[in-house]
Amino acid sequence: MSIGKIIGLVLGGLVVVLMVYVMSQGGSKTPVTSKFEEQVKPKVQEVKVEEKSEEEVVLDDLKKQAGVNLDQKVSQLYTLRCSSCHGKVGEGTKVGPSISGKSQDYILSKLDDYKNDRVVNSLMKGLLNNISDEEVKSLAEEISKFN
Ligand code: HEC
Repeated sequence: MSIGKIIGLVLGGLVVVLMVYVMSQGGSKTPVTSKFEEQVKPKVQEVKVEEKSEEEVVLDDLKKQAGVNLDQKVSQLYTLRCSSCHGKVGEGTKVGPSISGKSQDYILSKLDDYKNDRVVNSLMKGLLNNISDEEVKSLAEEISKFN
C-alpha cells in the first residue's frame, strides 16, 4: 500500500468522523427546538380555540339574522333597552326569545305580567322598573310592527 493511499484512507476516515460529529451536534439541537415549540404551541392553540368560539357566536347571530329585514326602522329606545337581549329587530338572541310578529296587546300584557310578578323573570322585571308606562306602550306598538 502506498503512503498516498494510506493518507487518503485516514483523511477519508476523518471526514466520516467529522460528519458523524456534525450530525450528532445537529441531532442534539432538535430537542431544544421541540422544547421551544412545546412552550409556544399550547398558547397559540388556546388563542385559536377562543377565536373559533367567537366566530361561532358571530355565525350563530348571522344565521339568526338571515331572513330578517335589518333595514327596519328601530327606535333608539328599543335599541338601547331591548335589542341586547331580543335582537336588533326582535328576532331574539341566546338570552331573550324572539318578540317579533307579536301583537301590541300580547306584548303589553306580557310586560304587565313581568311587572306585576305574574310571570317571574328578574331580567324583564328589573328592566320594567326603569321605564315609564308611556315608553312601554310605544315600545309595544313598535315591536308589534317588527316582522
Ligand atoms: C337582559 C335581557 C333582556 C332585556 C334587555 C329585555 N328582555 Fe324581554 N325578555 C328577556 C327574557 C329572558 C325573556 C323570557 C322570559 C320568560 O321566559 O318568561 C323576555 C321576554 C320578553 C317578552 C315576552 C315574550 C314572550 O313571547 O313570552 C316580551 C314581550 C319582552 N321580553 C319585551 C321586552 C322589551 C319591550 C324590552 C325592552 C324594554 C325587553 N324585553 C328587554 C330578556 C330581556
